Amino acid sequence: MMFYSDKVIEAFMNPVNVGEIADADGVGTLGSEDCGDMIRVWIKVKDQRLADIKYKVFGCPAAIAACSTMSRMAMGLTLDEADELTDEQVAETLGGLPTAKMHCSNLAASALHEAILNYVHNCARKGH
Ligand code: FES
Repeated sequence: MMFYSDKVIEAFMNPVNVGEIADADGVGTLGSEDCGDMIRVWIKVKDQRLADIKYKVFGCPAAIAACSTMSRMAMGLTLDEADELTDEQVAETLGGLPTAKMHCSNLAASALHEAILNYVHNCARKGH
């Protein structure tokens, strides 16, 4: 039987930072090969820190909880710090996930990393 921790249920019932950023500095999209679910993350960067993070999840409760938790953990971090945020840390903060649901938490931090990569590429293109 599938069993979610109280933290997963709380994060799923009241996810924070849901949405998108129209003038985002970076966007990252990641899909899961396991289930076909998808996450998109938008970021605003100021002084090399994450000034804002928003996301949309086309996925299950664990993926929604993981995105909400990732956004809480990463907000205000420097880009280097955010790059080091791992899927495992997100899952740990959620009090763990059922084994069959670990792949869901793997999307959140990785999609954030994609958004940061996109930001860096955008900067390089603009010659910043
Ligand atoms: Fe695919 Fe959770 S079942 S993200």
